[in-house]
Amino acid sequence: MNISIFSTKSYDRTFLEAANQTARHRLVFHEARLSSDTARLAAGAEGVCAFVNDQLNAEVIDILAKGGTRLILLRCAGFNQVDLKAAAAKGIQVRRVPAYSPYAVAEFTLGMIFTLNRQYHRAYNRVRDGNFSIDGLMGFDLHGRTVGIIGTGKIGCLTAKPLAALGCKVIGCDPYENPEFTSLGGSYMDCATLLAESDIISLHCPLTPKSFHLINTATLGKMREGVMIINTSRGALINAADMIGALKSGKVGYLGIDVYEQEGDLFYQDLSNEIIQDDVLQRLLTFPNVMVTSHQAYFTDTALRNISETTLGNVEDFIAGKSTGNEVRMANV
Ligand code: NAI
Repeated sequence: MNISIFSTKSYDRTFLEAANQTARHRLVFHEARLSSDTARLAAGAEGVCAFVNDQLNAEVIDILAKGGTRLILLRCAGFNQVDLKAAAAKGIQVRRVPAYSPYAVAEFTLGMIFTLNRQYHRAYNRVRDGNFSIDGLMGFDLHGRTVGIIGTGKIGCLTAKPLAALGCKVIGCDPYENPEFTSLGGSYMDCATLLAESDIISLHCPLTPKSFHLINTATLGKMREGVMIINTSRGALINAADMIGALKSGKVGYLGIDVYEQEGDLFYQDLSNEIIQDDVLQRLLTFPNVMVTSHQAYFTDTALRNISETTLGNVEDFIAGKSTGNEVRMANV
């Protein structure tokens, strides 16, 4: 199959080419993000492979369909960037990688919690600068604190497990209760109660119309003073502009975000010589208690290998007409 692959970096190419050694599909790599401006690059490709910040709206899908695309391969678990209705209307199937390394994301989430709390990043720089003072670096014991997990699926549970082992009280909210979460001592409650009772809130639910801007001025108002909020899920779960006021007042004591609603124009690019126009992000970066990373929680060798192998496996299954559960349909929303 001819497969047009968007938003590719050298590491994507390395892992996808390795996974393609036996099947030998024709892979065409594009550095560009998929959008209405670039979709024509895929003309003649039956398969189009996209990542988290590629746009797969109705306009793009229409261009792809006209170019002969029959299969959209997502190199990720989330599918909020795809207009599934438009894809179905054009007879284009969508397949994704539902889990490539939930461990990678959970481990990164824990790293964010530890870094924000104990300020490793500041300590590292201070000591290298000959400053051995520890003033301003005081943290808190995680033991005994309440951690609220919103979305207790694979990543939520893997994040909760070590925190429970450290002696945190782990609470969760999810429309579907996961026995794994209760077995590690977690208790379920509604989202409003969780927000009010947590010292640390970690977001692990998908972005859907229901979870859009779950964290906003109103919900922030219900939280504990100095709460820590971590988002390694999807940017638009948080209204980032609302977060600025909450950080200024001290309501939010720590913020760790690996994802950002407007990340599409920023993340995965070296903009160090540019004037960044996003005032909300720039303001967030001025707070000493805010840590922003560039959607890298998934970024381990294991995850890249799994993404590539599952993606190429999805091509084989599509050709064989095999249903594996990796298909994304309207019913999944
Ligand atoms: P999962 O499907 O195993 O778990 C998601 C859970 O969220 C499910 O239990 C679901 O019932 C629950 N949920 C759905 N809507 C909810 C709501 N409104 N409130 C509370 N819970 C809700 O997914 P998994 O693998 O744990 O991934 C979670 C999220 O992590 C993904 O949706 C994706 O957005 C994000 N992710 C981020 C990565 C990164 O590099 N930063 C990499 C991989 C995933």
